[in-house]
Amino acid sequence: MTYRYMTNNRMNLKKAAFPAVFLVASLCWSQQHAVPDASVPPPPMGWSSWNSFSNRIDSQIAVAQAKAMIDSGMARHGYQYINIDEGWWLGARDEAGNIVVDKKQWPALTPDEQPGDMSNIVKYIHSLGLKAGIYTDAGESGCSFYGPDLGPPMRHTGSEGHYEQDFLQFAKWGFDYVKVDWCGGNSENLDPALQYAEIARAIKKAEQITGHTLYFSICNWGKDSPWTWGPGIRGVTADIWRTSGDIVAPIVADSPNSGRRASYTGMLGNFDKGIHPEAQHTGFYNDPDMMVLGMPGLTDAQNRVHMMLWAISGAPLIVGADLTKLDPQTLAMLTNKEVLAVDQDPLGLQAIKIAGGDSSAEIWVKKLAGTTKDTGRRAVLLLNRSKNDLPATISWSEIGLKAGTADVHDAWTSKDLGQHINSYQTTVAGGDAVMLIIDGDETWEGPYRAVEISGKEFKDGTNKSAWRLSDVKSASNNTWLRIAYSNPGAEADLMELRINGERQSIISFPPTGTADKKAVTVEVRLKGGNAANEVVFSPAEPEQTTLDRAYIISIKQ
Ligand code: GLA
Repeated sequence: MTYRYMTNNRMNLKKAAFPAVFLVASLCWSQQHAVPDASVPPPPMGWSSWNSFSNRIDSQIAVAQAKAMIDSGMARHGYQYINIDEGWWLGARDEAGNIVVDKKQWPALTPDEQPGDMSNIVKYIHSLGLKAGIYTDAGESGCSFYGPDLGPPMRHTGSEGHYEQDFLQFAKWGFDYVKVDWCGGNSENLDPALQYAEIARAIKKAEQITGHTLYFSICNWGKDSPWTWGPGIRGVTADIWRTSGDIVAPIVADSPNSGRRASYTGMLGNFDKGIHPEAQHTGFYNDPDMMVLGMPGLTDAQNRVHMMLWAISGAPLIVGADLTKLDPQTLAMLTNKEVLAVDQDPLGLQAIKIAGGDSSAEIWVKKLAGTTKDTGRRAVLLLNRSKNDLPATISWSEIGLKAGTADVHDAWTSKDLGQHINSYQTTVAGGDAVMLIIDGDETWEGPYRAVEISGKEFKDGTNKSAWRLSDVKSASNNTWLRIAYSNPGAEADLMELRINGERQSIISFPPTGTADKKAVTVEVRLKGGNAANEVVFSPAEPEQTTLDRAYIISIKQ
């Protein structure tokens, strides 16, 4: 669980906003612009062993992949995690319940190391400047017992009954990332929100004891909608959560399953199931699964679309292909600078679909961070799922920009497409996609209604246990809210977001470091068409009846 705060705007992009409704920083127009955007932790980038090695992962493979991440140049582009998935542990424990691993699978890598010690591989990965990830299951036995891919079923390959012990062990070995699967949890009919909360607490405890941070990846394939509780489970947080099943079963060279193929339709399905923009904010991410880009099955055009889809949704970029065998074309796609910048944008938002589908290409828009007052920057993905070429027209009003001139740029080819007035029109080839960056002026018009939340009492209205805004109107169903707050504490403040009585997600307000205010942006789903909506923020935990920090929020409508 992490709040690695970036102090600078890494991508140096321009400032942005959205149509119709806007929660902004302060009590008046001029103050609102004084509050800078917080830079939130970007989605993780790395590699995972599962898709190309199944449960045959061992030290040699991890070493080779880590080397390839450096030698290919991927690390220079931000890829950093080497994630060891299922198969690293065969379920053995010693008398004290400590995990015991196979000494041949995890040998000593230097003369002063002992075989069978997972910190050997971690040290090696760290020596290259990379980070190391590990894997377990929330249940007593993991997927290698319930559905082994290669090899015999392995019982007791989960952490249930040993949460504190195992996560402490992972942190002590030096791992930086842990993925927690759900095969055991599922078979035992456990409650995901409760179980992952317990795991989050065990992780937090391990972090407190060791001073070492573990990035927490929930993998329960979207069961019980983890996007509604992942950002704050009982006061503790996960970083990312899977939103669907696996895109592909592992394709392992020289194995009985080498003939499997990644499916383009499967990849598109995972993209669609991963869209929960209300939950993706302040460093928390929906995870549509490891990428299949570069694995057998997808054409070049399909790989290109895959890369653009993961980037526009701000998804974790965890590559599943064998990094030692990437061809130059695949490598170029995985390291496309401008497309990576869209994925890693410091606002950490997801795309929303605003138009298209049948006779025109789908239009997906992601608000990007900016630096300049009143300039709006958007990433726009035009997706054509059909076989035929389709037209697409993006009007500035639909993406929250003022009428007038805006610059249009092709992010994939890095080509300027010139200045355009009010809209941009193009054609998208069948089965392909286009990613644009559009720079224009924010729509900042209309009066402000100021709402202040401060200390114990909510000053807007009578309800002291919730911050409520009624009569919020928006032309479109999705709206961006901008909230300024300060949180000088060490922990995130967690607030539940309800819209029209329905819980949408937990919004996490990470520490700001000082008492100075920072602004975060979140996406919400409303009734569009300028219907009245009620937006309520309340403390995330029932027992938490007051807010510790001061929030000053105003709304523009
Ligand atoms: C599940 C997960 C995969 C992978 C396998 C390992 O299917 O969703 O990502 O970790 O388990 O068995």
